[in-house]
Amino acid sequence: MARKNRFTPGILQRAPWHVVDNQVTPESVFNDRRNIIKALGLGALGASLPGQVQAGIFDLFGEQKAKNPFTTQSLNYSTPRQFVLPDVKTPEDKVTRHNNFYEFGTGKSDPYDNAQGFNVDPWTLVIDGLVDKPITLDLQALTKRFALEERTYRLRCVEAWSMVVPWVGFSLATLLKDAGVKSNATHVAFETLFDPEQMPGQKSRLMGGGIHYPYVEGLTIAEAMNELPFLAVGLYGKTLPPQNGAPIRLVVPWKYGFKSIKSVVRIRVMDKQPPTSWNQLASNEYGFYANVNPEVDHPRWSQASERSIGEGGLFSAKRIPTQMFNGYGDFVADLYKNMDLRKFY
Ligand code: MTE
Repeated sequence: MARKNRFTPGILQRAPWHVVDNQVTPESVFNDRRNIIKALGLGALGASLPGQVQAGIFDLFGEQKAKNPFTTQSLNYSTPRQFVLPDVKTPEDKVTRHNNFYEFGTGKSDPYDNAQGFNVDPWTLVIDGLVDKPITLDLQALTKRFALEERTYRLRCVEAWSMVVPWVGFSLATLLKDAGVKSNATHVAFETLFDPEQMPGQKSRLMGGGIHYPYVEGLTIAEAMNELPFLAVGLYGKTLPPQNGAPIRLVVPWKYGFKSIKSVVRIRVMDKQPPTSWNQLASNEYGFYANVNPEVDHPRWSQASERSIGEGGLFSAKRIPTQMFNGYGDFVADLYKNMDLRKFY
């Protein structure tokens, strides 16, 4: 694949998607997808519930807080130069406290507040479907079977905020090659753990932001075999905290963040396009492809710029322009060369 401006291994270069240090914006205003919950009438349902029942709902999340805090471990990994960005990394405490993980609540701090008791041991990740050799990985195998590397990627949420995160993990393509993808495969489906006892957002549509759980996502086989999609088992050099998708989550840096599914238990290779959670909820707003594209607005807000989370004060912050494919066009634009990106959003 022909690539312009990409990193030359061994030479640290300024990436085309470099984030300038002082271009940050406040968190005071953002386009919250909880509007969808309102649109579905679920917000009204919540508001119409008697106070005691509402309190009960929030207590269910509150119970999680009482459990022991989650502990993370240091990881051993290499740092390939082609994935070292000169961008200013989002401070770790912002990466781990400003999250979307509706299984633990729809507010940005809910995942941190509610997920500390999340038990990920034992954990089983199954890779099956149209593969020659299905693979089952347990918690230990997740970090031992593949050589771990650190990749600093930009994460652009569909809500028009972004972060720069140093993930630790291995490429999805490495795993799929190990399993041996059959020639009739066209797509790969991903599924999050379904465990309503641990994930209170899965107990009802009201608590889980309207999503039908388990949370599911998908890629085409060509996207999945690209070198960028990453299975992260850590960030900032340590195993993932629960709010970021412990023990293993997908990271697809040229697509809106909702494609980067957390706490994955199944990866299934298929011969048809799998359903995806946000598309099922509002197909006119969230497509299967979900490539970051400043020229195609969300029906309810512009995608031309984004708030870079983590730096600057409430009043000094400003928006940064959003880049096509989140700045990763040299790696992925060829995948979409004959595609109408307004139609296949
Ligand atoms: N995965 C699951 N299972 N549940 C979710 O609610 N939210 C998605 C994605 N993965 C989500 C998920 C969205 S909308 C975004 S922007 C990213 O996770 C956020 O990842 P972060 O919290 O690590 O920044």
